[in-house]
Amino acid sequence: MKELNRGTWNIRLVLLVIFAMSLLCELPSVQARRASKSKKRANEKSPKLLVIMLDGWRWDYYDRQKDELPAFSKFLQEGVQAKWVEPVFPSISYPSWTTISTGVYPEVHGILSNYMFDQHLQAVFDYKNNTSVSMEHWWQNAEPIWITATRHGRKALLNRWSRCDVPFDGIKPETCVSYDDVVDGTGSTVDAFRIAVESLQQDYDLVMIYIETIDLIGHEYGPDSPELMEAVRHIDSALSFLLGDMQKVNIDDKVNTIIIGDHGMKALGESAKIVYLNDYINVCDIYKIVGKGPIMTIEPYAQTKVKVYQALQYQEGFDVYLREEIPEDFHYKNGKLVLELLIVAHPNYYLSGFDSDKQIPENLVNASDKIEGGIHGYPDNITEMRTIFYAKGPGFKNGLIHPPIKMVDLYQIFTYLLDIPSRPNNGSWARVSEMFSSARETVSNFWMVTFSICLINLV
Ligand SMILES: *[C@@H]1O[C@H](CO)[C@@H](O)[C@H](O)[C@H]1NC(C)=O
Ligand SMILES: *[C@@H]1O[C@H](CO)[C@@H](O)[C@H](O)[C@H]1NC(C)=O
Ligand SMILES: *[C@@H]1O[C@H](CO)[C@@H](O)[C@H](O)[C@H]1NC(C)=O
Ligand SMILES: *[C@@H]1O[C@H](CO)[C@@H](O)[C@H](O)[C@H]1NC(C)=O
Ligand SMILES: *[C@@H]1O[C@H](CO)[C@@H](O)[C@H](O)[C@H]1NC(C)=O
Repeated sequence: MKELNRGTWNIRLVLLVIFAMSLLCELPSVQARRASKSKKRANEKSPKLLVIMLDGWRWDYYDRQKDELPAFSKFLQEGVQAKWVEPVFPSISYPSWTTISTGVYPEVHGILSNYMFDQHLQAVFDYKNNTSVSMEHWWQNAEPIWITATRHGRKALLNRWSRCDVPFDGIKPETCVSYDDVVDGTGSTVDAFRIAVESLQQDYDLVMIYIETIDLIGHEYGPDSPELMEAVRHIDSALSFLLGDMQKVNIDDKVNTIIIGDHGMKALGESAKIVYLNDYINVCDIYKIVGKGPIMTIEPYAQTKVKVYQALQYQEGFDVYLREEIPEDFHYKNGKLVLELLIVAHPNYYLSGFDSDKQIPENLVNASDKIEGGIHGYPDNITEMRTIFYAKGPGFKNGLIHPPIKMVDLYQIFTYLLDIPSRPNNGSWARVSEMFSSARETVSNFWMVTFSICLINLV
């Protein structure tokens, strides 16, 4: 009994000595590491960041066709592939782009769809009208990454990227070619990638390139069409040029490159059905009706709200919600410009524009009767709405298949890689932290050192 006690005591003593010595040994090296890190921050900036957005690139486009996509395959062997990215509601371009750039849900950044109506200002947001979407008042609720970067002395260049032309809090990025729907979106991807390589050779720290073609072809021919698959092969060969050019000018292992999409695409096809709201509601009962396709919103008059709502309930092909009934997990209902009624089409249904001048956009009479090959905008539990996150570079692990992330996670990934502070956002660090290489190195270095010290102490 006594012997045992003494033995335990000896072991404790040994452990205590080991612990004290490892602390002593560890201390200078931690300090040195901190010092070298802050010295690095003062002298050199973090690696440059290139972000490429492929509009409408569904989460499974690569996997189902990977044998034909050597550039993507090489990229992913050297980098990280998230299984998918969960989109936002509605999974439509402008709300998604704004979540990508700000890290907050549509109810927070306030861009609720491609069409909106502000009753207070009597203003229309129509993505096909450059003047309307460029009004500053739509855009001041959440800070985009290129503004956060500019605030911290990082030079940003954006090519056809959303509303980079609109100042936020009076600040603009160094260079911006803004998105314009009028410009033919099928313009050369190779040209856009050339701009990327040129800017990365100059003193830009953040380069963001937008490519529209996959979305346009997905809409026209559908996500399962040979046209779409051919367009995907074209992007792959453009990516091969990009990676080759980056290698030629010796920046390929110095730049963090991220490829993302903004939403997926669901086939509509011949069996799709058009919903005409004129069949259910009377134009006299509504003040404004906004949008078309997967979602619409309605502002009825106060005294007709219940009547309009009841007329739309339990009909085939769509759900209707009073504003207060909108599911919390849409992260939509608290938006400042949310109207009284939200209509969400079921998959394979398409909401036609209302035949009235109260409809935004106007003059849609019969225009949507031509069914598109594919659409998006449905709730985020429709798997076809998912999109991609692929990344490689000094900041990322190699050949990692990563669990799914959310679109709200992207902003914090950008700020982390640029080594600048994030604004408040809806991303989760726990959901993304394992994809980075430096985090792994720091942690494993620490344990290596501690472990070696323990070994030395034992000997
Ligand atoms: C769109 O409008 C903004 C703001 O008025 C302007 O800076 C930009 O040049 C316009 N874009 C096009 C293509 O007209
Ligand atoms: C575009 O939007 C502006 C600003 O809201 C508006 O004044 C103009 O009439 C719109 N143009 C068209 C063609 O609807
Ligand atoms: C729209 O289509 C309906 C049904 O096909 C037709 O009856 C109506 O006349 C059309 N309206 C216009 C303005 O073309
Ligand atoms: C998606 O979510 C909506 C709203 O919560 C629900 O009504 C619908 O049944 C869900 N669809 C699927 C396929 O889970
Ligand atoms: C999203 O982030 C904003 C800004 O920090 C915050 O106000 C909001 O409550 C967050 N929403 C959720 C659902 O966490």
